[in-house]
Amino acid sequence: MFKVKNNGGLYTASFCWLFFYIRGALMKIIEAMNTRISVRAYKPEPVSREMIKQVLQDAVSAPSAMNTQPWEFLVITGETLDKIRKANVDSLRSGVPIKPDHLVVGWTNDSVYRRRQIELAKDIFKLMDIKREDKEKRAAWSERGFRFFDAPAAIIILTERSLGDAPLMDIGAVMQNICLAALSHGLGTCIEDQGSMYPDILRKFTGIPDEKRVMISLAIGYPDWDFPVNKLKSARESVDNITTWSGFD
Ligand SMILES: Cc1cc2nc3c(=O)[nH]c(=O)nc-3n(C[C@H](O)[C@H](O)[C@H](O)COP(=O)(O)O)c2cc1C
Repeated sequence: MFKVKNNGGLYTASFCWLFFYIRGALMKIIEAMNTRISVRAYKPEPVSREMIKQVLQDAVSAPSAMNTQPWEFLVITGETLDKIRKANVDSLRSGVPIKPDHLVVGWTNDSVYRRRQIELAKDIFKLMDIKREDKEKRAAWSERGFRFFDAPAAIIILTERSLGDAPLMDIGAVMQNICLAALSHGLGTCIEDQGSMYPDILRKFTGIPDEKRVMISLAIGYPDWDFPVNKLKSARESVDNITTWSGFD
């Protein structure tokens, strides 16, 4: 802690206060980053439009390339969301091929990415008591994702189709901000490809124009912490295994 010569006591106290305030705020950010998990079951309580607006307002502080902010949001709730859930599940059950506006799986079966995906599925199925060979329960689990995990609201992130893949990074930044901002209101989120695998259904019920690309969806609502899968804290690769240091001792 440094001291200012004149009026020492007052200034020192102010700097001390600022130091602890900033350190406290930083700790809250790190805590939020480490506390956020994908929430896959929600209480039925609705989330107000004002609260979601505040979440989005805070989230758009995200950085974007040249400040282009290539994101738009569609927030869905109520009857419209219920119709989308039903149409998604009907399509899934009738074997309608998914047709997302973005690449979902880019890995090969012998890759580390596939291994991590399998580990996640195993962890989820264990918590949900789903046996590997139980096709019915596995299908029912998959449907939950297409129903936005029965969350009271969903956020769809859109971008201009003409921009190609350039906005992907920017959208990642705003997406994470949405999750963290939601957390500060006691809300849970699950970023999910599943909710945007049938973009034509979203278009049909909400009127998204063709020139807008559906990038990702998020379920949002108050978490049901008693639901087993919400106890999952997923694993992470050690930083040592994925970092190359250059120019250090
Ligand atoms: C781009 C993206 C798409 C995702 N899609 C799904 C999804 O369709 N269904 C799902 O249950 N989780 C989905 N997730 C959540 C991931 O499975 C989750 O982030 C990952 O397992 C790490 O767990 P955590 O979020 O609890 O830390 C998605 C996450 C991201 C970033």
